[in-house]
This record gives sequence, structure tokens and C-alpha cells, in this order.
Amino acid sequence: MNPIATDVEDSLARLQEQVAALRLRPGDALPGYFFRSHVTYQQELNNIVFKSWLWAGHVSQVPNVGDYFLYELAEESVIVVRHDDGEIRALINSCRHRGSRVCELKQGHGKAFACPYHGWVYGTDGRLKAARHMDGVPGFRKEDHGLKHARVAVRFGLIFINFDPDAYDFNEALAMVDPQLAPYHLETAKIAHRETYSVDANWKIALGNYLECYHCETAHRWYSKIHSFKDREQVSAPLNRAMWARAEKDTGVPDVDKAVYRMFREAPGFGSCVYTSRYALFADYKTGSRDGAPLAPLMGDFKGYDGGACDCQFGPLTYMLNYPDHCILFRYVPFGITRSDMEIVWFVKGDAVDGKDYNREELIWLWDQTTQEDKRIMNLNASGVNSQFFEPGPQHPEFEDTPMRFIDWYLHALAGNHSVVVPTVRTHRTSSLEACGSGLDG
Ligand code: FES
Ligand SMILES: [Fe+2]
Repeated sequence: MNPIATDVEDSLARLQEQVAALRLRPGDALPGYFFRSHVTYQQELNNIVFKSWLWAGHVSQVPNVGDYFLYELAEESVIVVRHDDGEIRALINSCRHRGSRVCELKQGHGKAFACPYHGWVYGTDGRLKAARHMDGVPGFRKEDHGLKHARVAVRFGLIFINFDPDAYDFNEALAMVDPQLAPYHLETAKIAHRETYSVDANWKIALGNYLECYHCETAHRWYSKIHSFKDREQVSAPLNRAMWARAEKDTGVPDVDKAVYRMFREAPGFGSCVYTSRYALFADYKTGSRDGAPLAPLMGDFKGYDGGACDCQFGPLTYMLNYPDHCILFRYVPFGITRSDMEIVWFVKGDAVDGKDYNREELIWLWDQTTQEDKRIMNLNASGVNSQFFEPGPQHPEFEDTPMRFIDWYLHALAGNHSVVVPTVRTHRTSSLEACGSGLDG
């Protein structure tokens, strides 16, 4: 990790000054203050991260009653467990006695969680079942000391949580992208591989890099050979138009070409972003493979390849890129001011067998390669913004349109403004995002 000098004078007033100054320069990149300030980081957790829907895992990780895994971010740990009633619960992994972690194992199976410290025992619904020698203590009632819960929403086999009890119902947002996402049958898909890439970078550096493809030609040689995004009008727009025209017929999936833009401030509720848009790969590429050839059996309802891939967003920190034969999920996880994880999960059809139906190394090649490249530029970016002499410049109005939308949302949310705005109506034939293929990258 890169040690950084923090500002001992830091305060909420200082943060407000910085936000106000940045508002006078719309379109500029974030200045170094936002990557160095402990006050900012705490505000981000309270006002953004803990109020947003976050991807915790996939239903295949908890197929049976009593199965659990830990989801960790910042200083938090959450036990995601399937309770006796078949529903998935998200329990805050902090004992209601003196706060010890109750569960140590990253994943496992059990009927209850016994705290390793003084032995209080919790059910898989978080209820306190036993507390040694406490029954005779005046005023002590077990029902007052269950593990705290986070909210849970499950759709497409994806498990999302939200620490805010008053959060917008994410199921309503997810229903908006059902026609484009449900046909992949992610609920029965198999996790073929997952990988965590840790970076010595603030979470906004890692996420900001995913949100634009201005860097793709300089940083990603292979990605740029496969995915169209450059010379928007000359190269990308005709490829997209041709792909949209054939997409339904070639894939057999109705409305597969339709787009939904409810990102950041245009989300239906705070922290409930949903986005989907289909964009073209270069000619001869059916999927994200070295030679363009298929890598795995077609997913779900897909009957063929249209030369397109589906970009998605679920909440502010989770993204997917779905090819017809495999789907890739990207999650961004903050762990302090100067560290974050990028986690990538590769999904294939549920009954696909490694070595027979797909080759795991070939399957992960492109995005492992691309993410290693991203890791390098993120670390360089993180070091550079920590220079006391860094002065941010303007972002490109089209190529960095999505990071600008993120910053606008981020500044509002940081200040405690969680209102959403009426979305701009954007159809997939007219938006600048889609004219370029995708606003997002990796
Ligand atoms: S801290 Fe868990 S039983 Fe005491
Ligand atoms: Fe990238």
C-alpha cells in the first residue's frame, strides 16, 4: 500500500468547500482531496456505500438450508445464509455481546453460529438462541439481542444486500431489466471461476476506470481488437445498427436489443441503479475470445450469436458484461482510503463441464488480461492523484460521459442529497452512449 500524508485539519467544512469548488468546474476530474480525506471516506460509507444495493454473491453459493458465506467490505462483515424457511438472510457479523466476529470461516454450513468469545449462539435467522449464564440477569431478554440484519434482494440468482432499512425496493429496479437479463438463466448458471484483484487505489479510482473506455486503446490491446468503441460515427455506430437489426432473430431472445438507462442520479431509487445496453463486437467475433470463436455452450434461452454483448449495471458498484455464451460480473469493494478490490466472477451455463464444454483458461483469458492491465493503470493513477501538485483536467464530454454522471451523483450523495431525478429519455438509436457501443469498459 502507498502510505499517504493525511490532512490533520480535515473536517466536514473542508469537505463542503471542496464539493462547492468542484461544482464550479463541472466536467473536471476529481481532485486529490477526495482520495486522501478520512472525513470524505467516512461520509462515502455512510451516505453512499451503506445506502446502496451491493452484490453479495450468487445463489449457487448457498444451495441448501444452513449454507453460508461471508461478504466483506470496508470494516464490515456480513453472513449471507440460507435460513430454514429457504430465504436468504444477511446478518451483520458482529456479536451483540461485546462485538466479536461471530463467524470466522469464509464459507460453510451449520445450524447456528456460536460466538467464539463467550459462546452466545445465534440461529441462521440471527435470533439469539442461547447466552451462557445470562438467563438470570435482571432485564436480559434474548429477543433484544439478535444479530442485526441487512436488507436482501435476490433476482437472476444474484444476491444483493443493502444496509439501509429504508432503501428503495431493488426488486422494482431489477424488474426493469428483466427482458434483457432473465434469458441468461443466471439463477441456474455455474460459477466457472472467480478472482479478486486488489489494488492500492481508492475505490473511486477503480470504479472510475471501469466507467470509461477513453483509456482502452492505450491500455487494452486485446480488448480493443474485439470490442467496438472507437471512431463512434464511422466505426461503432454502423456496427451497432447492424447488430441491433439482427439481434432478436440471431439470438432468439425478444427485446434483447433494447436498452434501459437508470444509472446514478437517474436510478429509480437511491443506490438502485439499473442499466443494460447491447453493443457490437468487431466483425468475426461471436464472443470475448482470442479468435472470436465461442468459448462455452450458449446461455439460457440464447439460440445463436448476434455479434453483440450486453453491458449491465446493478447498483453503483456492480457491473456485468454478458456474451451469449458466458457472463462476467465485476464488483468494486472499498477497503479503506487507499485499497480496494475488484472481483470478477465468470458464469457459464449450469451444466457446462470444464475441459469438455469449455476451457477455463481460455474462458477467463480476456478479462484476466484486461484486468491485470487495469490494475497497473489504477495503481499509477492512485500514485499520481496523491501528488500534492496534482491539478485535475477536463474529462472528454463523450468518452468520459459516464464518469461525469458518476461524479455528479457522488457529489450530491456525499452531501446527503439522496433524491433522484427524472431520467432523460434515451432510446438505443439516439444516445451518445450507444452510438459509441458502450459508455463502460473494464
Ligand atoms: S462477544 Fe460474542 S459472546 Fe461475548
Ligand atoms: Fe480498462
